[in-house]
Amino acid sequence: MDDFETYCRDYLEAWEARSTVRAMTRYRPSQADSHVPLLPEGFVPLVDEPEVQAMGPEVKRLLVTQACYRIMDGIALIETDMICECCRDLAHRSQLVEVPALARQVALAIHTDEGYHSFAAREFMDELTEITGIQPDGRLEDCSSRLGLDAVLAQLSPELHGAFRMVALSLTENLVTDEVIGLVKETELISPFHLNLREHLMDEARHQAFFRRLLRRVWAAFDPEIRTSLAQVLPLFLDFLLERPMREDAKARLESVHRLGLDGRTLEHLRLREEARLVAKADNPTWGNVRRAMGDAGLLDAPEVQSALRDGGWLVV
Ligand SMILES: [Fe+2]
Ligand SMILES: [Fe+2]
Repeated sequence: MDDFETYCRDYLEAWEARSTVRAMTRYRPSQADSHVPLLPEGFVPLVDEPEVQAMGPEVKRLLVTQACYRIMDGIALIETDMICECCRDLAHRSQLVEVPALARQVALAIHTDEGYHSFAAREFMDELTEITGIQPDGRLEDCSSRLGLDAVLAQLSPELHGAFRMVALSLTENLVTDEVIGLVKETELISPFHLNLREHLMDEARHQAFFRRLLRRVWAAFDPEIRTSLAQVLPLFLDFLLERPMREDAKARLESVHRLGLDGRTLEHLRLREEARLVAKADNPTWGNVRRAMGDAGLLDAPEVQSALRDGGWLVV
């Protein structure tokens, strides 16, 4: 048994003892939480714009709740449509490079976690709807990382699909961190949003560690020409994984405001300010952890990856 297989065996033991689906009763919000701000102050800058503030605290509450629903909806979708599907592929299909049986079993354990996370996110949305009395504006119909995967697979020859799925899965699993959800050390754990995600992120910390190790192993095992082919499509995938959600979220926030009946001129002002808050790819807050994962797994050492990311605007210099 090599080091990675030993790690996988230990992972499965820890999963049995500590995964939220096996070992915990999940947090459920109650009416008593209804007075607590759902998202951290400053998390949705649009609600602090003077025009929105002038509409009163109820409008702020409504917009923040919609933003929270959207995050949960995104989680419910990404878990099943992207992560579960790629985990299933990793567990059951033959791959270009050897994937140990124990690692395939870990992929099934993670598949189980993610199906549960999707369930918990959807349940949480329903419970919040009941507690707040605010209906979600709508449901997300697509999942950016899944669209990105499909866009890349359309460009790659079929024999590389499994390899790219492993890369895409490993990077997607390194998307969310405490900072990204506004959960920093000094955060008082009182908001239902954070209490819900705190549990989710306990599992994700284990997933991230596994996928960094897996990616390091398979990337090193790929032939150089395979690495080159995969490197070329990485920027396209990152555009969907990291850039598209930022723009789609801004659009959704403006649609929520639009429903409140603001006049066209004010809406246009708010749209321009949302646009001004969009950051360059290299400064995208969700890129930090994905970039670290790529570094840990050895991808950033590859000149072909570096040049593809530079050309795609993800690396500057
Ligand atoms: Fe998850
Ligand atoms: Fe995960």
